[in-house]
Amino acid sequence: MKTLLARIFGKKTPMTNLTIIGNGNMARGIATRALAGGLTVEILGQDATKAKELAAELGTGVTFGTTADAPQGAIVVLAVPFDAAKSVVSTYGQALTGKTIVDITNPVNFETFDSLVVEPGTSAAEEIARLAPTGANVVKAFNTTFAGTLVAGESGGQPLDVFIAGDNADATAAVSSLVSAGGMRPLVVGPLKRSRELEGFQFVLMTMQANTEFADFNWDTGLLVTK
Ligand SMILES: NC(=O)c1ccc[n+]([C@@H]2O[C@H](COP(=O)([O-])OP(=O)(O)OC[C@H]3O[C@@H](n4cnc5c(N)ncnc54)[C@H](OP(=O)(O)O)[C@@H]3O)[C@@H](O)[C@H]2O)c1
Repeated sequence: MKTLLARIFGKKTPMTNLTIIGNGNMARGIATRALAGGLTVEILGQDATKAKELAAELGTGVTFGTTADAPQGAIVVLAVPFDAAKSVVSTYGQALTGKTIVDITNPVNFETFDSLVVEPGTSAAEEIARLAPTGANVVKAFNTTFAGTLVAGESGGQPLDVFIAGDNADATAAVSSLVSAGGMRPLVVGPLKRSRELEGFQFVLMTMQANTEFADFNWDTGLLVTK
């Protein structure tokens, strides 16, 4: 494992492998899996107290700060709502140069719960990529894994599948390695524009959690590819 991490993050183990922006449910879930894989995690929240509380809950290997701080991780996960993700990327600007930015957002119209807020022919990930500085690579991942299943590390007794889309092979490989280290299966499905389908499909899965026809589904299902 140490060799694998050294290959991804450089020969010297950096202070922080992974920065997570946000301190909510997905921050907890992704941090839990990363820590299980031996990575170090930085939590940056808009509220220092909340970031500190999550860091304390997660335990050793976790530092914290606020979104006024430059992210230290080679991989930066945007564990915030879509509008906030755009704002965070714009505000950080050049501080994200050279980073792999992971967009996990599901740009659902929560007023109607009947559509996405992005236009057909694009995706949240592509919108975020347009705002990222040159030299940063945006990767879509984790948008189909519910937060509780990430904490548990499984759904229905199965390891989680994590769908990954991106245009830069090194960046998708880095996210794949993070996913593998955390005990999940990385599935690199294609270029960043595949995010359109990943976001659309997850919207369907979200409506199923809220649909009383599927009484057993309670934001705890997993999307698993079998053969
Ligand atoms: N929940 C899931 O199962 C799931 C699954 C897949 C993808 N996602 C996606 O993951 C993202 C996060 O979801 P979540 O469930 O973790 O939400 P959450 O529990 O509500 O947490 C959202 C986090 O975003 C922070 N935030 C909001 N605006 C911000 C800003 N401008 N700058 C910095 N931080 C900001 C909040 O900070 P405060 O606490 O200070 O308000 C909070 O820490 C969303 O895009 C969602 O679509 C969620």
